Amino acid sequence: MYIKQLRLSNFRNYKTLTLDFNPKVNVFVGNNAQGKSNILEAVYLLAAARSFRAAKDGDMIQSGQDYSLISGDVVTEATHNLEVVLQKNAPKVLRVDKKETQQKQFVGVFNVVLFTPDDLYLIKGSPGDRRRFLDLEISQVDAGYRSLLLDYQKVLQHRNSLLKTIAFEQKDPGMLEIWDQQLIEIGSRLIVKRAEMIHKLGLLSRLMHRGLSNGSEELMLRYIPFFVSNPEEENEYSYQAVKSRFTEALLSTKSLEYKRGYTLVGPQRDDFQFLINRLDAKIYGSQGQQRTAVLACRLAELEYMKSETGSYPAILLDDVMSELDQLRRHFLLELLHKKVQTIITTTNIADFEQKITEDAAVYHVKAGQVQERR
Ligand SMILES: Nc1ncnc2c1ncn2[C@@H]1O[C@H](COP(=O)(O)OP(=O)(O)OP(=O)(O)O)[C@@H](O)[C@H]1O
Ligand SMILES: [Mg+2]
Repeated sequence: MYIKQLRLSNFRNYKTLTLDFNPKVNVFVGNNAQGKSNILEAVYLLAAARSFRAAKDGDMIQSGQDYSLISGDVVTEATHNLEVVLQKNAPKVLRVDKKETQQKQFVGVFNVVLFTPDDLYLIKGSPGDRRRFLDLEISQVDAGYRSLLLDYQKVLQHRNSLLKTIAFEQKDPGMLEIWDQQLIEIGSRLIVKRAEMIHKLGLLSRLMHRGLSNGSEELMLRYIPFFVSNPEEENEYSYQAVKSRFTEALLSTKSLEYKRGYTLVGPQRDDFQFLINRLDAKIYGSQGQQRTAVLACRLAELEYMKSETGSYPAILLDDVMSELDQLRRHFLLELLHKKVQTIITTTNIADFEQKITEDAAVYHVKAGQVQERR
């Protein structure tokens, strides 16, 4: 799949912009602070319905304006129009083919994989960062997961507010039972899907990593659901097995939950690890090893999405070329060049081999204006 045209109004430093993309490689060149990443952010927004920068929705509206419109024509098995309207004092509006839709119908129409220099957060960051990654990846390819996730969040909210009244107003805990059941059932289904995804992504990451490290090291991904205290143990991820672990964990923390006043167990406490030669990369990996592992994982995402949806996502590369050595850069570009739409930002076009830029569309970005090089 690819994006054909992007139209912006009042988005970041773009007053208005209409941009036609090449279905293959697109390179945005410009000095710092000219608006290169803003373009990637807009494209990402059409896929994920949120920004990849920590920004609140309102931050993306051009300063002094009340709303912002991001519209894109994307080609999947058919052509679709996707629109995001950001509003200063109201929730954002999402539309597919001009019809207003919920987030769970919007996400998944158009898929992207993003590479940024901050990607090391996948290894170095918090468990919450890794869960967000998992949730977004699976959500892009699995509508069922998107619904489960929203349902789970609702159950968690209800259960937490009930626990609060039990803890602080001495309400009767009997009412909790119905929420316990739902927490366990929906939560277990989420865990089964996460386990499946990490298994698949792990196999693909290992393959990619072999290519990137000349086969000298072995990368593995290891899921650590909340009920696991020793990550080394082998676990079974059938629905029944997960459900009984979940039930057990809930029973044994219940009295503590009554005191604390919120839910202490569930997939909102999951994590996963990157292992290089069986050692946790977060603790033992060098900077370079971590970088290679994350890159392998991103490349694996491409293949994962392809295998789940039948087509490759678009690739967004935000300023990552300068960070990679020659070998990895070459490997990466070779791979990208073959198959997928790629949108790259750079301050220095000289970082690219001529072979790549030859048939690429190259755009110059300056102070919120974009000009295609002819
Ligand atoms: N809400 C906003 N309204 C207006 N301008 C904004 C807004 N948010 C960001 N900008 C402007 O956008 C520009 C930054 O754009 P962007 O992050 O795309 O830069 P870049 O070209 O990727 O730079 P770098 O090479 O440093 O990453 C800055 O000039 C900033 O002032
Ligand atoms: Mg940038």
